[in-house]
Amino acid sequence: MVIATTARAVRKLSGGWRRKGFTVGFVPTMGALHAGHLALVAASKVRHDRTVVSIFVNPMQFGPRDDLARYPRPSARDRRLLERAGVDALYRPSPAAMYPQGFDTAVEVGPRLTGGLCGRYRPGHFRGVTTVVAKLLNAVRPDEAFFGRKDAQQAVVIRRMALDLDTGVRITVVPTVRERDGLAMSSRNAYLSPAERRSAPVIRRALIAGRKVALSGRKGAGTGAVKAAVRRVLAREPAVRVQYLELVDADTLTPLAYPKGKVLLAVAAHLGRTRLLDNVVFTARRGR
Ligand code: PAJ
Repeated sequence: MVIATTARAVRKLSGGWRRKGFTVGFVPTMGALHAGHLALVAASKVRHDRTVVSIFVNPMQFGPRDDLARYPRPSARDRRLLERAGVDALYRPSPAAMYPQGFDTAVEVGPRLTGGLCGRYRPGHFRGVTTVVAKLLNAVRPDEAFFGRKDAQQAVVIRRMALDLDTGVRITVVPTVRERDGLAMSSRNAYLSPAERRSAPVIRRALIAGRKVALSGRKGAGTGAVKAAVRRVLAREPAVRVQYLELVDADTLTPLAYPKGKVLLAVAAHLGRTRLLDNVVFTARRGR
């Protein structure tokens, strides 16, 4: 595995591959890798001759009260995992290489996609995400980039950005990888105390209960009833504090009065100081 620390070095590497006729897949991450990240790597390896992974804990997407300083950075372990997964190149820029003195540009997707859900509680977050991902796509110039369904809004926002900026990069979303008890894998799960960790799987169970109501086709199974079902299950674990619970169109992220078409049912919740995200995406055929 080749390690590149500058945009110039990684561009030279992937440019060389493309000139030889190889296709390039790309997986952007912030490190602290787990099976979710490795599923994105596996998806890229199936489809492409070469796979590039980036690790960059992006200061621009963290708010002043977020966990930037304590975000885990197990760099030797991450490198080993990527080597074992057969990744061809790791792009690992320093913050100074990514944002040198004088850096003064941002890439921002409009509020229709970034104003709701996580965007409502994390002002500036998606601006940081789209700016860094635009820079990463410009450096790596992949054919395709892979993102996780767990961060459903992020994937929708990035797809919009990649399209609007004519990047020519195909954006692919990979299903959420879970622990055996249903908890969505996340680098932030490491923050959970043992008691919090035991409570956390309730989020998945609650979403499944909500989906069941949405798909029941029952009269009155509108968004209110779906959300009530989710909250009833969440209430079994009082340590879980809901930040938002939304039922929106999975592509446009507009709130829905009743489940219809491709639906995203998404939750953000705090367990102690840790913020967890999860969602289910499903197709509700019987809208009224
Ligand atoms: P990070 O949280 O490290 O996640 C990197 C990628 O892995 C994202 O596309 C995320 O959705 C995906 N991922 C995380 N957990 C997953 C799981 N359990 N199953 C499947 N995929 C999962 O998301 C970011 O980093 C950053 O915002 C980034 C896009 C790298 C920009 O800085």
